[in-house]
Amino acid sequence: MSLTKIFNNLSLSSLTSFGRSLFNKICDPNLYTKENILSTVLHSLVVPSLIFILCTVVRRKLSKPGKRDAKYFKQTYGGWALVTGASSGIGSDFAKILASEGFNVVLTARTESSLKAVSEEIENEYGVETRIVLADLSKKDGAREIHDEVSDLDIGILINNAGAGWFGRVRDEDVEHIENLIQLNCTSMAVLTQLFVNSMRKRNRPSGIIITSSLGSYGPMPNTATYTAAKAFASRFGGATSFEESNDTPGNVHITVLEPGATATKFAVVATSGTLNNRPGMATSAHVANQALNYLAAGKIYCIPDDRDYYFSVVLSFIPYSFVLKSTYNRFKSFGAKKD
Ligand SMILES: NC(=O)c1ccc[n+]([C@@H]2O[C@H](COP(=O)([O-])OP(=O)(O)OC[C@H]3O[C@@H](n4cnc5c(N)ncnc54)[C@H](OP(=O)(O)O)[C@@H]3O)[C@@H](O)[C@H]2O)c1
Repeated sequence: MSLTKIFNNLSLSSLTSFGRSLFNKICDPNLYTKENILSTVLHSLVVPSLIFILCTVVRRKLSKPGKRDAKYFKQTYGGWALVTGASSGIGSDFAKILASEGFNVVLTARTESSLKAVSEEIENEYGVETRIVLADLSKKDGAREIHDEVSDLDIGILINNAGAGWFGRVRDEDVEHIENLIQLNCTSMAVLTQLFVNSMRKRNRPSGIIITSSLGSYGPMPNTATYTAAKAFASRFGGATSFEESNDTPGNVHITVLEPGATATKFAVVATSGTLNNRPGMATSAHVANQALNYLAAGKIYCIPDDRDYYFSVVLSFIPYSFVLKSTYNRFKSFGAKKD
């Protein structure tokens, strides 16, 4: 029967009687028993929530890349790897993993003694070459200096990882400190990416860039406002540039944005002036670096390395900003703050 026929057969009286019987059913007091209400709540809230949780878990399992083939990875990208912030934490693990897979590595940061220690360990253990480049990325010319220092090398992978944070009220921060923090986490990162995207495009073979952002980029976070806002810049900048590169010149420069949650390095200790220490059960820097390389090899734009952090990011996207503001304000209230 066509839709027009069905419509013609529906008389006004049949619609009225249908409406009346529906109204009677809704008003029936027997309907509002405890059991009925409970089962309605169960069906309308719990069941969709369970389906959503199941879909989120399945989505995570399906989208998480497996371990990269290290030999193929080296053959694909070739050349040298350059790691910023290689003197400690996630950066030094990036450098060690890449060296263990056959890459020569440029190590850069400010602390020469720590870079030398990483360099010695890598050369002795994996027999690859290293080059140390001392540079302060909180200075205007830091990124250009690094790019110039390696102009004679074929850089196939750039790990844009150097970063620092600060916990406390914005009003307590030195103006110069805010400028340095933004220069380090945003401007130098963006300039270094731009310079290397252009040199990498001339290689005529695939190249890779990882930008270390943070799970803190997911919302406005009081008492660590400048740092998390800077990381929000890193995430948006990295994601958009990644899309430009994969869309305009497919297969040439891959960019992955790494968004780790709390990771056991000296980061939190420094950022909170020693108030916050690493907790048991935190992700390790080696796991974070390894996962980021798996995501890069799989051509994924965003990488949240830890499952718990991934699920937390999903929950965060449903929570109103007012709640995020309040809970992070309370959580970080005492860390590194200079005044009450
Ligand atoms: N650990 C976490 O919980 C966590 C969570 C989310 C995101 N992250 C991000 O992960 C990245 C690595 O941090 P991490 O956890 O490995 O901490 P980390 O051990 O403190 O490492 C930070 C690295 O950045 C370098 N660096 C800091 N300021 C610099 C500057 N002005 N110029 C050049 N290099 C500088 C440091 O070297 P020098 O001091 O020798 O210069 C060090 O090598 C950062 O971008 C951080 O924001 C960390």
